[in-house]
Amino acid sequence: MTAHPSPGAALPTGGTAHPVDRLRPRRSCLAVPGSNPRFLEKAQGLPADQVFLDLEDACAPLAKPEARHTIVKFLNEGDWSGKTRVVRVNDWTTEWTYRDVVTVVEGAGQNLDCVMLPKVQDAQQVVALDLLLTQIEKTMGFEVGRIGIEAQIENARGLNNVNEIAQASPRTETIVFGPADFMASINMKSLVVGEQPPGYPADAYHYILMKILMAARANDLQAIDGPYLQIRDVDGFRKVATRAAALGFDGKWVLHPGQVEAANEVFSPSQEDYDHAELILDAYDYCTSEAGGKKGSAMLGDEMIDEASRKMALVIAGKGRAAGM
Ligand code: GLV
Ligand code: MG
Repeated sequence: MTAHPSPGAALPTGGTAHPVDRLRPRRSCLAVPGSNPRFLEKAQGLPADQVFLDLEDACAPLAKPEARHTIVKFLNEGDWSGKTRVVRVNDWTTEWTYRDVVTVVEGAGQNLDCVMLPKVQDAQQVVALDLLLTQIEKTMGFEVGRIGIEAQIENARGLNNVNEIAQASPRTETIVFGPADFMASINMKSLVVGEQPPGYPADAYHYILMKILMAARANDLQAIDGPYLQIRDVDGFRKVATRAAALGFDGKWVLHPGQVEAANEVFSPSQEDYDHAELILDAYDYCTSEAGGKKGSAMLGDEMIDEASRKMALVIAGKGRAAGM
């Protein structure tokens, strides 16, 4: 454990080791307002890896109670095959969170993969959600610990605590960056989400994205970048997504059908890189084998490859295989 033992570590969900799936493809995570049946219908036909049905900021306060039931109905009756199904509840500082979780998970827990918790500030908030999920799973006779958690980092306190947050529950599958709320929380002088603030000559998001990525990777979780709000500017989306993908992020939110294909492409390796990665794996397998002379390294064209090359190639090949290349 770390110097800051996380309460979650002392409170395992159900005794089983990580029944949640941290390897689901999440290149494109489609946001769908839980209060909009037309969008909920349409989302089912889009090629997003994940959908998240939103009870938080895309849902007006007065619409939230009905949206909970709309989400239950769409999870149970919709065709979400091939997609990871997530519901974003409201954060723990509101009065809505527990009823969001109870209504959605009791009503559709067996057709739900993860609950996304926004504006997470510390490990205790994740533990609280874990405990509530466990109670509901036990009450309903569901498998305990199957429903995962996505923890959204959207303010300075959350970022400071991100490593403890990442360790707080065995249910956690991803750490998600929420740029809009984050920019507001640190008083960033910009109104365009994901764009660099005017007047700052470097990448204002580098530290934030890296810190989230490190916490995710140190704890075997996925790292997901948040939304790009200029939904008609697909080139702008591509630019911001490419920046996160280059660092190692696994995917990004999409708010519009036009962003879905772009995200799937940006977060998949190019065909050339994928083919090269498979070649490295084959060449390394051969050189380490009996027939290949049990060597620890070999030449592939002009390139020397060894065990570290194999690991790098596995990352690219793994993403490509997941993308069906
Ligand atoms: C998403 O929730 C954001 O605040 O960017
Ligand atoms: Mg937000």
